[in-house]
Amino acid sequence: MSDPQANAAQIDYWNANVGKTWAELQDLLDAQIDPLGRAAMAALPLSPDAHVLDIGCGCGQTTYQLAERLGSGGKVTGIDISEPMLAVARNRASTAPEVAVRFVLADAQTDALGGGQFDAAFSRFGVMFFSDPTAAFRNIRRRLKPGAPLAFVCWRPISENLWMSAPRACLDDLVPSQPVTDPTAPGPFAFADPDRVRTLLSDAGFSAITLTPHMAHVGVATLEGQVQISLKVGPLGSLLREEPQWRDVATERVSRMLEAYLTPDGVKMPAAVWIVTACA
Ligand SMILES: C[S@@+](CC[C@H](N)C(=O)[O-])C[C@H]1O[C@@H](n2cnc3c(N)ncnc32)[C@H](O)[C@@H]1O
Repeated sequence: MSDPQANAAQIDYWNANVGKTWAELQDLLDAQIDPLGRAAMAALPLSPDAHVLDIGCGCGQTTYQLAERLGSGGKVTGIDISEPMLAVARNRASTAPEVAVRFVLADAQTDALGGGQFDAAFSRFGVMFFSDPTAAFRNIRRRLKPGAPLAFVCWRPISENLWMSAPRACLDDLVPSQPVTDPTAPGPFAFADPDRVRTLLSDAGFSAITLTPHMAHVGVATLEGQVQISLKVGPLGSLLREEPQWRDVATERVSRMLEAYLTPDGVKMPAAVWIVTACA
């Protein structure tokens, strides 16, 4: 029996401050992670009339990008547990108005996902937050037609993702970072270990599983924009939500640190991900 409370903690998390932050910073975050999502999307074969599932679609950028790859017979369903992020997604102008796009408030681990049978599934950083990833991927596989492709992008370890670690390190002398007790707990880096991802997908019934390492330099057009992301998202964002008294010193130090990464094309910092593909 699926438990609708299985992801209660994450539902709370993505509907409270964090979901609201993502909704508020949607333009900046989309610019930051767009190249990484596109790298994963390029690994997803799609026929023009496919019905595609976008898992943990958030504010919907990738849902509309998937629609751009389809013809007028195609459909995309974006599912997410975050009301504030889905509200942004529903209000965006479609970049492929001839394709049917819908957004559903649903937990990928436990929900029937609209009851349809999908031709393909995709996710940009939306699959690392399940309390029981095997159950979630089994649920997703059951909603896919046999042999249908899955492609997603997830983070490699934080040590390889300077854009997330360097802002937090700016305060380490004042508030030391706590050691990670369970690297597999739901969170952005839960899929950093490639063997774990292979096992989870295989146990969920997927085959032809591949993980390809991918590196890019990511960032937004202005230093101010990158400072905003750094202060509100990732480990430093979590610290400042709990201990806002460090905000001023963090702003000053992070701005100075980021200057070293400012290029004529905006801020560029190393990011490392896995591009994962599999078949239902
Ligand atoms: C890091 S955000 C990425 C959002 C979006 N894919 C993007 O790239 O902009 C993770 C997303 O996964 C969603 N999420 C977390 N757990 C989920 C679950 N069990 N079912 C569906 N969505 C979930 C969150 O609400 C959030 O929108």
